Amino acid sequence: MGIMEGKRGLVVGIANDRSFAYSITESLVREGADCLFTHLPGEKMQRRCLKAISGLGIEDPWLRPLDASSDEHLDEVFESIKTDFGSIDFLVHSIAFADKDWLQVGKFAATPREVFNQAIDISAYTYAAMANRAADVMPDGGSMLAMSYYGSEKAVPGYNVMGVAKAALEATNRYLALELGPRNLRMNVISGGPLRTMSSMAVGGFAEILDWVEQKAPLHRNISGSDVGNTAAWLLSDYSAGITGQVVYVDSGYSIVGL
Ligand SMILES: NC(=O)c1ccc[n+]([C@@H]2O[C@H](COP(=O)([O-])OP(=O)(O)OC[C@H]3O[C@@H](n4cnc5c(N)ncnc54)[C@H](O)[C@@H]3O)[C@@H](O)[C@H]2O)c1
Repeated sequence: MGIMEGKRGLVVGIANDRSFAYSITESLVREGADCLFTHLPGEKMQRRCLKAISGLGIEDPWLRPLDASSDEHLDEVFESIKTDFGSIDFLVHSIAFADKDWLQVGKFAATPREVFNQAIDISAYTYAAMANRAADVMPDGGSMLAMSYYGSEKAVPGYNVMGVAKAALEATNRYLALELGPRNLRMNVISGGPLRTMSSMAVGGFAEILDWVEQKAPLHRNISGSDVGNTAAWLLSDYSAGITGQVVYVDSGYSIVGL
């Protein structure tokens, strides 16, 4: 029997079969979970997301459009979860956005206000916005997860405003954990190593980051999506019942190295 048997939850962030959310779903489904999904609005996005989900052997999934920058969309998604299922057990927040023109080496200081605010809104605020709504459909408690990166705590060339947004995301996780803990709701973040996905390709110098990690990380390799997926399944399961508010590194050990 899998460690997620009997649990149902929402996964936000599958764009295609390279997304971290895809690998997380793969592990969750293997462990017995029932997953619900959203896609960015638009026929093309819906088609890509459906294709990835069906690649996991899930036919006819529960799938709704969601632009997480819209409170109305967020309300609709969680209200329809309540109507259709009554309650859920977990939430996966695996989304981020920043204008790629400002994710280039040497272009942080001049980041325009709207670019800065949008990055924080979509990449950090939406975690609180989703957690607050998810809490209402988790009356018996549950586990929530978001995805971060080392650029939240060290200045990584080219990661720029996304690093600021990830610092906000990790702090948001701690405050949510403190406030929602008494309701038996756990909140954790995985700080993932670099992985080639649609989003990461927007970061200037990404190929160099991958090479650097391979050379310097204790495991001398980059991570795979399933490294993150399997850790995510554990954090969303009862096997991590005493863990909340944490940042868990799935980065081949890169973050412990000084030089
Ligand atoms: N790929 C990496 O190297 C890496 C490393 C560490 C952390 N992360 C984080 O992992 C998470 C997933 O990214 P990924 O690398 O799988 O890339 P991805 O492009 O596959 O996924 C990003 C997702 O964000 C969604 N998204 C963007 N704006 C949205 C909005 N307004 N509303 C709803 N959804 C929106 C996209 O539709 C997409 O599904 C992100 O938080 C990212 O920052 C990525």
